[in-house]
Amino acid sequence: MPGKNVIDVKNVFFSYGKTPFLRDITFSVSKGEIFGFLGPSGAGKSTLQKVLTGISTDYEGSASILGTESRKHGRDFYEKIGVDFEFPSLFEKLTARENMEYFASLYSGNKRDIDELLGEVGLLEHADKKVSAFSKGMKSRLNFIKALVHDPDVLFLDEPTSGLDPNNAKIMKDMIRREKEKGKTIILTTHDMHDATELCDRVVFIVNGQMKALDTPHNFIMSRGAAKVTYTYLDDGAERTVSSLLNELSEDRVLKKLIDENRITSIHSAEPTLSDIFIEITGAHLDGQE
Ligand SMILES: Nc1ncnc2c1ncn2[C@@H]1O[C@H](COP(=O)(O)OP(=O)(O)OP(=O)(O)O)[C@@H](O)[C@H]1O
Ligand SMILES: [Mg+2]
Repeated sequence: MPGKNVIDVKNVFFSYGKTPFLRDITFSVSKGEIFGFLGPSGAGKSTLQKVLTGISTDYEGSASILGTESRKHGRDFYEKIGVDFEFPSLFEKLTARENMEYFASLYSGNKRDIDELLGEVGLLEHADKKVSAFSKGMKSRLNFIKALVHDPDVLFLDEPTSGLDPNNAKIMKDMIRREKEKGKTIILTTHDMHDATELCDRVVFIVNGQMKALDTPHNFIMSRGAAKVTYTYLDDGAERTVSSLLNELSEDRVLKKLIDENRITSIHSAEPTLSDIFIEITGAHLDGQE
């Protein structure tokens, strides 16, 4: 494979109709990285995943995965990549184990242990139930391990934690981290800024089919917007809340006076979140609000 990048995307344009929807997408992902697509609903995250996974092949530019140009992929392409689609695609009339056995049979290389995978996502006790009797979260978990069954080097995960309760979301996130530790390269689509901050080595902000910024969550948070301090004090028996920037605190005379007079009832400090930074850079809200 030329170079050390597992994924190399250069000047990708893609359109559903006449006007291009994805415009000039360029980025690279190296081995063992978790690379996040963060953006509001309709931004084009799943569309970009479809280009990278060889589902939408009529794009312009270049999208190379493990040295294979996505539009020219052959059957062996899917031996090396695992795709967890946004919407579960499972056989409802088959049991969880039968689904896994069926999908495993489609690949020729080494397979992972099906019961172990079912166990990891808490589905082993439901292995012999038909998928039609599964809840949404159970289907998401099964869909996720379906993408791992052939032990692929690159994982494309489209909203893997959406619709999961916090406990199951944590199980999923821990599994994603373990895949990274094994050296797998992961593309993770999300509109959840917590997931992006916790999991991703780098994140690209996507709005209206375009890349607006690309950096590590840490750099985004540290380089933009200072941390804020919010304090509450008593004023004639009523509680008042004021915010100051952390780096301007020494100039806050009101705060000094309140401390001297022992009138502060609480102080909190908070760094900007990835969601604040997203709004600052793109002008768009992650939840799609204006
Ligand atoms: N098959 C299609 N034909 C025409 N337009 C489509 C098709 N699929 C998606 N689109 C449009 O492309 C745009 C991007 O959709 P996409 O599914 O990539 O967004 P997304 O960022 O994944 O959103 P979400 O967070 O809701 O999953 C939307 O305006 C959508 O309506
Ligand atoms: Mg999507």
